[in-house]
Amino acid sequence: MTEKKKLYIKTYGCQMNVYDSGKMQDVMLPLGYEETPEYTDADMVVLNTCHIREKASEKLYSELGRIRKVKDKLKDKGRHMIIAVAGCVGQAEGEEILSRAPYVDIVVGPQSYHRLPSLVQNIRKEKGDKVDIEFPTVSKFDFLPEESAKVGISAFLTIQEGCDKFCTFCVVPYTRGAEYSRPVSEITREAMMLVERGAKEIQLLGQNVNAYHGVDHEGNAWNLGQLITHLSKVKGLERIRYTTSHPRDMHADLYRAHAEVEALQPYLHLPVQAGSNRTLKAMNRKHTREEYFMIIERLRKLRPDIAFSSDFIVGYPGETDQDFEDTMDLVRQVGFAQCYSFKYSARPGTPASLKEDQLPEDVKDARLQALQALLFQQQKDFNASIVGKTIPVLFDREGRHEGQLIGKSPYMQSVYVSADAVHQGTILNVRVDKATQNSLTGIVADTAKAA
Ligand code: SAH
Ligand code: SF4
Ligand code: F3S
Repeated sequence: MTEKKKLYIKTYGCQMNVYDSGKMQDVMLPLGYEETPEYTDADMVVLNTCHIREKASEKLYSELGRIRKVKDKLKDKGRHMIIAVAGCVGQAEGEEILSRAPYVDIVVGPQSYHRLPSLVQNIRKEKGDKVDIEFPTVSKFDFLPEESAKVGISAFLTIQEGCDKFCTFCVVPYTRGAEYSRPVSEITREAMMLVERGAKEIQLLGQNVNAYHGVDHEGNAWNLGQLITHLSKVKGLERIRYTTSHPRDMHADLYRAHAEVEALQPYLHLPVQAGSNRTLKAMNRKHTREEYFMIIERLRKLRPDIAFSSDFIVGYPGETDQDFEDTMDLVRQVGFAQCYSFKYSARPGTPASLKEDQLPEDVKDARLQALQALLFQQQKDFNASIVGKTIPVLFDREGRHEGQLIGKSPYMQSVYVSADAVHQGTILNVRVDKATQNSLTGIVADTAKAA
């Protein structure tokens, strides 16, 4: 029998990193590695990193410094802790990590972590490569195990990777590589496996998920709308979501899916980044504010209960007061349920980082504050608009208090109720009686669907 070892994985960044961390656990299982919640006694530590905004590498090196102390302590006891840096900082900085932190054993990128087991074996044999940040010609998905050790009630499923859009501010095309879509059959198999193991909701993931163009068994390319319609037939799959999508890649089949596929939730994260056409053009977003409004309007017509979320960047180089006002105006016109907003951060290697008209920090700070005040107000208003309504809630975890269950509304809000733990994993109708900025509370209105 394989000797049991403890594996600690810390995940930063987007949901795709969360998915990858799960897969890293799966690839390490055959070597006897099992997840542990603390790194103080771990045989292997993986930091699955994100490079999207500033200070990513500084944060990594200070975290590595802390872990090194534990590694030294274990060494005194005759144990070797393997430290691996994975993810997008690993991809971006590669060998440099080993020279700045020589006690790191392994560096892998987001497309090569399936090779972790052989890199670990190299360490044991004290030979071979320590860094693997190639973009392999054969997809990592061909090497990842199909089964997952851990499946949640709401599960992630990566269907598309990478990005060819090259927005001027963004590192993703460099860290994740070119766009790639997994074949339909592979995704269907994984979806069925997830549902068999208890998933009720699947969130389809991709940096550009609605640019999906994977092939079916006859070699025909499918779009995301077709894929969602197909997956909605998987028995026992109650909810489908997808993220993150790009306004340029909305298509007729996807609109149709929003109108017709019951399992597709009435909630869409559709990042717009800015509300000024001048800024959108400078960012190479290749869509205008008017096109964004048209998408929102079309979806609201098809699915009147749909709600939207978005990402915003303030203080892009050269952004004027008027440009920023256009962003505020776009937010007022759309009315979002929940959003993420960031100060522009110059990323090494991106075209926007080379621009001379970078804005001072205080201007960015003030704009972010104003935007967030508006967005938080909208979020509060949106939550308040649910009070008095009865909505279906998928219960996915127990609360801190005895007899408390927590679930997700169709709009991704956390909903707290008093209910028996047997209802975990089921969808119940809840009459919402209270809302705060971040969550809802209510009373279970029927348990008819609990069986
Ligand atoms: N693929 C997605 C976004 C991926 S990155 C899309 O196209 O929208 C997630 C978010 O991080 C982005 O939507 C953007 O708002 C933010 N972001 C990316 N690069 C950034 C940068 N250089 N500075 C600040 N925010 C950034
Ligand atoms: Fe980055 Fe733009 Fe690609 Fe999104 S679409 S991942 S923001 S380059
Ligand atoms: Fe970060 Fe990489 Fe995701 S940079 S946001 S972890 S794709």
